[in-house]
Amino acid sequence: MVSTPALAVNSGRQYLPVPATDNPSPNQFLLPLTAKLNSQDHLEVGGCDVVDLVAQFGSPLYILDEKTLRTACQQYRQAFQQYYPGESLVIYASKAWNCMAVCAIVASEGLGIDVVSGGELYTALQAGLNPETIYLHGNNKSLSELEFAIEQGCTIVVDNWFELETLAGLTGDRPIRIMLRLTPGIECHTHDYIRTGSIDSKFGFDPQQIEKVYEFISQQPSLECVGLHAHIGSQIFELQPHHDLGAVMVQWFTKAAQYGLPVQQLDIGGGLGIRYTESDDPPSIDEWVKAVCLGIVQACESQGLTLPKLIAEPGRSLIGSACVTAYTMGSQKVVPDIRSYVTVDGGMSDNPRPITYQSVYRAAVANRMSAEMSETVTIAGKHCESGDIVIKNAQLPKTQPGDVLVVMATGAYNYSMASNYNRLARPAAILVHEGEASLILERETYQDLVRQDRLPERLKQ
Ligand code: LLP
Repeated sequence: MVSTPALAVNSGRQYLPVPATDNPSPNQFLLPLTAKLNSQDHLEVGGCDVVDLVAQFGSPLYILDEKTLRTACQQYRQAFQQYYPGESLVIYASKAWNCMAVCAIVASEGLGIDVVSGGELYTALQAGLNPETIYLHGNNKSLSELEFAIEQGCTIVVDNWFELETLAGLTGDRPIRIMLRLTPGIECHTHDYIRTGSIDSKFGFDPQQIEKVYEFISQQPSLECVGLHAHIGSQIFELQPHHDLGAVMVQWFTKAAQYGLPVQQLDIGGGLGIRYTESDDPPSIDEWVKAVCLGIVQACESQGLTLPKLIAEPGRSLIGSACVTAYTMGSQKVVPDIRSYVTVDGGMSDNPRPITYQSVYRAAVANRMSAEMSETVTIAGKHCESGDIVIKNAQLPKTQPGDVLVVMATGAYNYSMASNYNRLARPAAILVHEGEASLILERETYQDLVRQDRLPERLKQ
């Protein structure tokens, strides 16, 4: 695996962007591809000074770099064109970050989109996406979510018997386009919570039941089963599991033909990891796609099969490295001989990944990028929860209240998993591109926080 130094540690100074090599794979970098230091020694992303952005839009602030996101989309598409002789489609797993602007960007790059709820579907439609490019996932879709997606003409990725029977019971004027999600039984190394491919998973049909499932569908004229789906997990650095997945899926594919089903698509899910620290070494987008395509092509060749339409649905590796979160630093506390705490004006509500998965991040002080990293401090969030730690034992320069701290690679599963814990308003998000900053998510206000509250008459003071 070719390792690209995401960022060099500049002789004990903060992480600095390394000049981009030829078409760098965004998932291998800690900072967005456009990251630079400007003449004021500030971090610049998408041509915008991060310190100025905080002054203008407040903090915490998600700063999303359009170029990095678009580059990742293009690299996926180009790699499929290069390594897969059949038809292919990349769909963005929008659970990583679902909002109208992100949906619109990925669609404009020719990607489809995967949604896992009526809410994600609604957002994608509001962004103007073509419903034919939308795939609805989920292990417990409600009837109204199913009806909503069918009415729009989306493809439903069916997860289980209950859902299959529910769909078979729906009558409409045209067949419902479905794919089947199967549990591939492939192990990979990642956090237990984000591992989905092993047999003991809440997702998908057990492959041992596949013939029964095919048999059932073959008797339902209202169901048009166009493909099979599997997803083995997330933040994966190995290539072998995805390569092996191809062979496993092709076996299921052959069986479908025996039941006369029009299965012509294989969706191998997402899962490619990104760099969160300098020791992470994920394969590039190109390497991942190559491994996936080889797996399918070899398996099809060995069985004399025509190549199916190949679908991949990456989330994290498309958007994770495209964003940094900027915070304003606040109080500090020294626990003698134990630890120094510094704090930021957000925490587990805007980035629940450290407390949920013990995820490790890297940070830098955006307003003094060349300062020497002289301290080891623990960066704490502002929530009433001892576990609300953004980064334990971070290397930083000496900091003071008012400094702007950026946490890197926060594009995936940060905003989308954000909460209002402690009634903190969710941060704003801005899209930066060639020196222009556009608001894509308004900062929530106190009014937003009480919008759904109702005070029964007898409780009024
Ligand atoms: N397809 C399916 C069916 C999935 O369940 C997922 C992620 C993806 C695609 C996209 O996987 P990716 O390319 O992003 O690895 N909240 C966790 C991650 C949960 C992943 C859920 N499924 C985290 O913050 O690490």
